[in-house]
Amino acid sequence: MINPVIRPRRLRSTPALRRLASETRLHPSELVLPMFVREGTGASVPIKSMPGVVQHTVDSARRAVAQAAEAGIGGIMLFGVPNVRDAIGTGATDPDGILNAATRALVAEAGDALVVQTDLCLDEFTDHGHCGVLSVDGTVDNDTTLERYREMALVQAASGSQLLGLSGMMDGQVAAVREALDQSGYVGTAVLAYSAKYASAFYGPFRDAVESTLVGDRRSYQLDPANRREGVREALLDISEGADIVMVKPAGSYLDVLADVSAVSDIPVWAYQVSGEYAMIEAAAAHGWIDRRRAIEESVLSIRRAGADAVLTYWAVELADWLTERPTR
Ligand code: PBG
Repeated sequence: MINPVIRPRRLRSTPALRRLASETRLHPSELVLPMFVREGTGASVPIKSMPGVVQHTVDSARRAVAQAAEAGIGGIMLFGVPNVRDAIGTGATDPDGILNAATRALVAEAGDALVVQTDLCLDEFTDHGHCGVLSVDGTVDNDTTLERYREMALVQAASGSQLLGLSGMMDGQVAAVREALDQSGYVGTAVLAYSAKYASAFYGPFRDAVESTLVGDRRSYQLDPANRREGVREALLDISEGADIVMVKPAGSYLDVLADVSAVSDIPVWAYQVSGEYAMIEAAAAHGWIDRRRAIEESVLSIRRAGADAVLTYWAVELADWLTERPTR
């Protein structure tokens, strides 16, 4: 009979030992809730492909922020869903546009309880659905788009957003936005760079959530899912341009990139567990094919284990309630 001297199972033998030996822990403060706010005064609208997630009105968003604060999560990330869209995404830079108006209302609601963050990208506001403005040949014009991002940054900062989520994947966007903010005195407004954002099928349900009008894809600006080294390159570039936080997105299928970025970054590294990751677990759970709570906890824990300091997840509040053993809402 073989008698192993080294027995890793010892530390797994009781719940107390497992808890003591655990290398990674989740905490509400490192969770960020993405939220959709729709223009108009009606009721909130459920998003079919994301069961449990809604397009909020400003009022319902206010109540959700109060809940999020009570749950102790670290922040919210706001996306606007406007009624009218045009070629250059005018609504994005209108101080009374839905995203900016919602930001003002939610910053007032949140106070110091959590960090209000805003998506800085044109895709929700353009009629063609791309993340930037188009040139005559129909491609996304990088440098003209940077001018729009700079304007957007100033309006968002003026609305009270504390952390701007640059998700458009234009070259030079971090430096361009940082310079615009600094020149206008917004030196304290921080930049979250969606550095390694891949052209992913897992954004599918999000496109429903924001009623995206996109035809085609974003492969000429978002990263090729085949590329690992390039994800690190993008993160390093954004750090050199002055980003305060870098991000990898999606999370679950890109844990290698996340681990690589976290190994070289000297600033916080976040990850975005995107709509498709959410929808897959919800759908499997709804069929009874997977234990919903365990799958959610394991998926977010794995993202943390791979190197994320914080995670954007649509389960942020529910997960925070579990972590603090609050009764589920
Ligand atoms: C672009 C943006 C997208 C997501 C966040 N910001 C969509 C895209 O790039 O197509 C996706 C988030 C998700 O799927 O949950 N503004």
